[in-house]
Amino acid sequence: MERATVLGAGLMGHGIGELLALAGFEVTLVDINEEVLKKAMDSISWSLGKFAEKKTIRDEDAKAALARIKTNVDLEAAVADADLVVEAVPEKLELKKSIFKRLDGAAPAHAILASNTSSLSITEMGAQTGRPDKVIGMHFFSPPVLMVLVEVVRGEETSDETTDTIVKLVEKLGKTPVVVRKDVRGFIVNRVLGAVMNEAFSVVEKGEATMEEVDAAVKYKAGFPLGAFELADMVGLDVMYEVGKIMENAYGNVAKSSPMLEKLVKEGNLGQKTGKGFYDWKVGRPRISFRLAGKFDENRLYAIATNEAARLVHEDVAGPEDIDLAMKLGTGWPTGPCERSDKLGLDKLLAKLKELHEKYGEAMYEPCPLLEEYVANGWTGKPAGRGFYQYG
Ligand SMILES: NC(=O)c1ccc[n+]([C@@H]2O[C@H](COP(=O)([O-])OP(=O)(O)OC[C@H]3O[C@@H](n4cnc5c(N)ncnc54)[C@H](O)[C@@H]3O)[C@@H](O)[C@H]2O)c1
Repeated sequence: MERATVLGAGLMGHGIGELLALAGFEVTLVDINEEVLKKAMDSISWSLGKFAEKKTIRDEDAKAALARIKTNVDLEAAVADADLVVEAVPEKLELKKSIFKRLDGAAPAHAILASNTSSLSITEMGAQTGRPDKVIGMHFFSPPVLMVLVEVVRGEETSDETTDTIVKLVEKLGKTPVVVRKDVRGFIVNRVLGAVMNEAFSVVEKGEATMEEVDAAVKYKAGFPLGAFELADMVGLDVMYEVGKIMENAYGNVAKSSPMLEKLVKEGNLGQKTGKGFYDWKVGRPRISFRLAGKFDENRLYAIATNEAARLVHEDVAGPEDIDLAMKLGTGWPTGPCERSDKLGLDKLLAKLKELHEKYGEAMYEPCPLLEEYVANGWTGKPAGRGFYQYG
């Protein structure tokens, strides 16, 4: 593969284009007008300049990468000789489906068509084409030039050959691929993280802790890089809400989205970008006091993460190693949910889930049958020699 076209030169697309150019591809960036494309090229030029300044790459390599990137507003012309197309247009299924149809008509028959979607169905995009075996998810994390993880998502018809090609390509880009074996909504990272975020919102809605107490416990005891509410505000509450709805549509009550989040979105308080969300950003970054860390048990969030991880293993979406790796690289958590719960004891986490399920009767607390099976087998974690992992 030598020529790549990136569709949508926004936040993600321009970074993906930069990465591909650094790896030696001739890249064409496509967007709806010249203005967006100029902005994208300026951002790429700035970013390459920073890498050169910090000596991460040589000056001449930065210049050569920039020279390998062209722009075009004509989608059909831009993909006519592409070996690979990466789609990074807004997260709207109908838009993506219409784009995949056009791509199939305009790109060479051998070209792989990838989508950077964070949550939508690769299978449905593939079904718009005459080559569903060559349609695949390449889910980069933001910003793509810095984040190491790429979830490689198989649609129902994606071939082994396409998957192998994209796994090798991701490695060539200097990134770590994790293959998502089934096309489930949220893939690995957004599914586990989404469940944890929902639980953080729910704890506050139930009046069990304040958002500051949850964030302090998450940051200072669990070692997450950001508090849950701080992260939501930084991602944008509108984005959180949209993805939450996609998850709720897919999983029903297990992924019920938060009324508190909906209220803020309806009020136009979308987080850092509007100056107010859960926190008031007009007074600066939230100051989360270390003193509050003891007021909330962060293992409650790990119980939820573990339950979701068990569901992913049970559905054969991914194994424990891949889930742990994806969560660490995709979110900056210091440990993955499977390895951490093997240490904490799966029996204890299961008891916590059962207690919550009994108390609230909510589907999100219902333990995954796999977790029950592990505990019934005596596979309670590291001290028992077997949990998600086999020890010794
Ligand atoms: N933002 C993130 O953190 C993040 C992370 C991972 C994946 N994603 C996914 O990446 C995709 C893009 O997200 P983003 O944050 O870069 O959005 P963005 O809004 O920054 O960029 C999207 C770009 O697509 C362009 N566009 C719209 N219609 C187009 C068309 N018909 N042809 C060509 N270009 C078109 C827009 O003008 C815009 O520049 C989404 O699917 C999103 O879910 C986003």
